[in-house]
Amino acid sequence: MPPSIDSTLAETRSFAVSADFARQANMNAETFARLNRQATEDPHRFWGDLAREYLDWDLPFQQVLEADHAPFYRWFSDGQLNVAHNCVDRHLQGATRHKAALIWEGEDGSVKTLTYAQLHREMCLFANALKHQGVQKGDRVAIYMPMVPEAVIAMLACARIGAIHTVVFSGFSAEALKDRLEDTDAKILITADGAWRVGKLVPLKRHADQALLREREHSVQRVIVLRRTGAEIDMQEGRDVWWEDVISGMSADCPALPMQAEDPLFILYTSGSTGRPKGVFHSSAGYLLWAMLTTRWVFDVKPADVYWCTADIGWITGHSYVVYGPLANGATIFLYEGAPMYPQPDRFWEMIARHGISIFYTAPTAVRAFMKMGDEWPQRHDLSSLRLLGSVGEPMNPEAWMWYHEQIGGGRCPIADTWWQTETGGHMIAPLPGVAVNKPGSCALPLPGISARIVNDHGDPITAPDAGGYLIIDRPWPGMLRGVWGNPERYVESYWAKFGNRYYIAGDSARCDADGYFWVMGRIDDVLNVSGHRLGTAEVESALVAHPAVAEAAVVGIPHEIKGEAICAFVIVKHQYQGVDRDELGAALRAQVTELIGAIARPDDIRFTDALPKTRSGKIMRRLLRSLARGEDITQDTSTLEDEGTLQHLTTVKK
Ligand code: WTA
Repeated sequence: MPPSIDSTLAETRSFAVSADFARQANMNAETFARLNRQATEDPHRFWGDLAREYLDWDLPFQQVLEADHAPFYRWFSDGQLNVAHNCVDRHLQGATRHKAALIWEGEDGSVKTLTYAQLHREMCLFANALKHQGVQKGDRVAIYMPMVPEAVIAMLACARIGAIHTVVFSGFSAEALKDRLEDTDAKILITADGAWRVGKLVPLKRHADQALLREREHSVQRVIVLRRTGAEIDMQEGRDVWWEDVISGMSADCPALPMQAEDPLFILYTSGSTGRPKGVFHSSAGYLLWAMLTTRWVFDVKPADVYWCTADIGWITGHSYVVYGPLANGATIFLYEGAPMYPQPDRFWEMIARHGISIFYTAPTAVRAFMKMGDEWPQRHDLSSLRLLGSVGEPMNPEAWMWYHEQIGGGRCPIADTWWQTETGGHMIAPLPGVAVNKPGSCALPLPGISARIVNDHGDPITAPDAGGYLIIDRPWPGMLRGVWGNPERYVESYWAKFGNRYYIAGDSARCDADGYFWVMGRIDDVLNVSGHRLGTAEVESALVAHPAVAEAAVVGIPHEIKGEAICAFVIVKHQYQGVDRDELGAALRAQVTELIGAIARPDDIRFTDALPKTRSGKIMRRLLRSLARGEDITQDTSTLEDEGTLQHLTTVKK
């Protein structure tokens, strides 16, 4: 179960920093204290020094931060650099040139390694191919690909020539892809003939074709298709071209284009409490700096590490901690194409042993799923190469934490429980392995330069230990989002307006204990967290309502043993569909959600009803539905309920 406030309040265990680890760590207690001091005393100097030390600039910046148009902050804005140069070219000198940048394993067991020199060549070939296809600086390029090296190459190639990528998770449907193509006005779509997942073929190109057929403006001029599965697909003459053909004859010489620090690097869609997903966009320099520093500080990445973050590149974790952060540090990244338990539940552990993975970063939902399979699976393998573990996506329940610590980490690996978001660009609150003790369920302390606080409903700071409130960030940081694509008002409204633009509002509730350790409780808005994936209730509801039989729908989260949260939907069926078989309709509605969003948004529980509880102003009373879905007694105040009869009806609703 995901943690409740009671279970983590009762959590008192703590695990000391190992002296051996601290001795070799990139960040020890002394450096931590010094950086925190500098960040408070002179933030401009603090960030400016870090940006000069850790990034390669084509044109040095003079200005660290511009805050005149807050909350539209600008960082290092008169400087120029190229992100791909910083992630690849600068490692071409010396020994790192022939070091593995990327080790990839397919679901079928095939393995491919690219050294930094090889990655550089592939990136340049593809960057030239993109230019040859008419891509220019500032154009949007959509990437809808499986977890293969070419996905990383495509992202870096975009960065090299200044194109803005928007990666769409390959588990999203044609409809979701279409929305993102339209919202970004993408010129090019890069996809594959298919992907392997649990031994089955996922027809990515077919989804892409459907998306393009529905796309209103037809902004996409070219579809570049990687051959991965050899599946039969339709190639549309004049529009679709094979990856191998576009790179053939291209030069491997492609100078990295110097970009303004504030030029957008990518757009990534994420769910909010209202409406459609938002296109969060990030800058070039500030984002890269933060991805790089946090990888170095939190994961303690060293030249000898083989680092594996299991996230798909379609999520922010895949951007910051599969691609940009580790490559900027010259690390060796491991990439796995397929399903975690395929062909059997020890696939991950077997790969960790075989590739000598030393840093492993995954999500609590995965840990819980493995825990359920039993200890014998990890115990079959030698996991002694591991030296640090990480977690992201949701609060980690202490039980899963202990299992991860003992069964995977052998009791010796620190666990970095990293709190952050698509919007923050990189980790914000996390236990630095050479500095902070581990308390199971807590993400520990804000990183140097990050000023996190808990405030009450009025925006006033809460200082009493263990009192819950809104988690906010009260100083800008370089990795922060720069806006919502094409919608500056939504940026202000979603993240700043509630407390008069004073703070960045994360949308999470949290508390701080007497040691200043943060304990994140979960979202306070109408955002669900299903298997660590953010989904807006509004999105799922509109997918349900798009079905002809549905008059109205309301969606809430219910606790789920593996997923953390599962979706429960209350659905009102239109009069003329009242006679339809409920099981069949339920199946049709699940299919509908899969079709419009993707399988991750499929409701676990669908309950049919004649009415929904609403306030007199017509707002659905979700907290009531939440209690009902959980089978709890209604203890809340129902005086604002428009029709008390609704409640009575709902309590007897049939599944
Ligand atoms: C939740 C993922 C507690 C949180 C990087 C946040 C967490 C949302 C943690 C962001 C954690 C992520 N502890 N909660 N360690 N990590 N969350 O944008 O609710 O997909 O607001 O970014 O996930 O999800 P997103």
